[in-house]
Amino acid sequence: MLAADVLALSPEEQAMLAGAHGPAVQRAMEMVVALARIYGARGLVEIKSAQVAGVSYANIGDSGLAFLSHWADEGAKVRAPALLNPAGMDLQAWREMGVPEDFAAKQLALVQVYARMGVKATCTCAPYLLPTNPLPALGDHLAWSESSAVVYANSVLGARTNREGGPGALAAAIVGRTGNYGLHLDDARQPSESWLVTAPLLSDADWGALGIAIGRASRGVPYIRLQGPAVASADASATADHLRLFGAAAAAAGSMSLFHMEGVTAEARAGQVRRPDTEQAIISALDEVYASLNSPIEHLDLVAIGCPHASLAQLEEVARFLGGRHVATPLWLMASRAILGQAQARGLAEVLAASGARLLADTCVVVAPLKLMGIRSVATNSAKAAFYLPGHQGAAVRFGPLERCLEAALRGSWR
Ligand code: F3S
Repeated sequence: MLAADVLALSPEEQAMLAGAHGPAVQRAMEMVVALARIYGARGLVEIKSAQVAGVSYANIGDSGLAFLSHWADEGAKVRAPALLNPAGMDLQAWREMGVPEDFAAKQLALVQVYARMGVKATCTCAPYLLPTNPLPALGDHLAWSESSAVVYANSVLGARTNREGGPGALAAAIVGRTGNYGLHLDDARQPSESWLVTAPLLSDADWGALGIAIGRASRGVPYIRLQGPAVASADASATADHLRLFGAAAAAAGSMSLFHMEGVTAEARAGQVRRPDTEQAIISALDEVYASLNSPIEHLDLVAIGCPHASLAQLEEVARFLGGRHVATPLWLMASRAILGQAQARGLAEVLAASGARLLADTCVVVAPLKLMGIRSVATNSAKAAFYLPGHQGAAVRFGPLERCLEAALRGSWR
């Protein structure tokens, strides 16, 4: 039987598809149904929220803007809560960032179009840190598209989402549903490969490097155990922020959207997954990953922290390390506007700004127009950013732990 034959739609879903709710909903339902049929779904599931990528004008350009404007003109409105991924600039402080006027005008127009459809301009890749949005719970169905948010939601929170494309997530938000296939189903969430990590995990960068190592080689859903030096060091350092850095890197280096870590992640803790009998791959060192992500540069145009967008705890760590000292190289601290609001309320933003750090909301170092801004070399503690920056931005990269990046920012070079 063809996969297309098994999809069953409710009367309301059929009405949406037939155009009874207008052309914008019909277009959205056509997209959701097409994806559901391609992946052999038997039905649709209601979603708790959508997270929409495709927000940076640098990435989607005039054709993307025209497509979305047309959809909004047709009357598209989201039914499920929908949030935006980062844009190509801080929507308020873009002049201070050095973003060209014509780019800024297009970027603001793009965010406006999403707002007309009811998508909140949260512009963050860490929607699970937003204080105003309910944290997805174990088993909740979502339609999220940012890969680092997808892997965090699936793995750490135990919610269920495929890695949606930007238009697919928007379509799901408009009809309030997505196809019930892939990681929405129990079977697809079972681990298919076994990993043993004995490499010490002594810093945030080590967690990201581990993500690159597993992400590059993984072909399914990994079940990860930490042992020996890894578990001894992880006891002290396996925070949610480290899991974010790990997952973001793994999703960037491969196509990983879900991992299970023994005793750590949601479904492993809930006893919902079984360790597979497959041969165990072992990671005992991360040196090769560090070598592959580092270019031999000393001069830095920028030090970038906050990929994925920083938590309040990470901003506090930066402030503690700087201790009032002033940076010699531009230092970007990227976070959601909500987290920056919390930093402001605690006086932390003022302390960081006094050290010369630039606190940026709405954007990130990978989607901002770095070339137009003359930035060619970047240091970062994010393995994901280090992985993408050479290809996406043509930038040379230094990758290392937070402290090393901040030392470089203070000194003005990487040694
Ligand atoms: Fe977020 Fe940009 Fe990194 S979207 S995960 S800060 S590449």
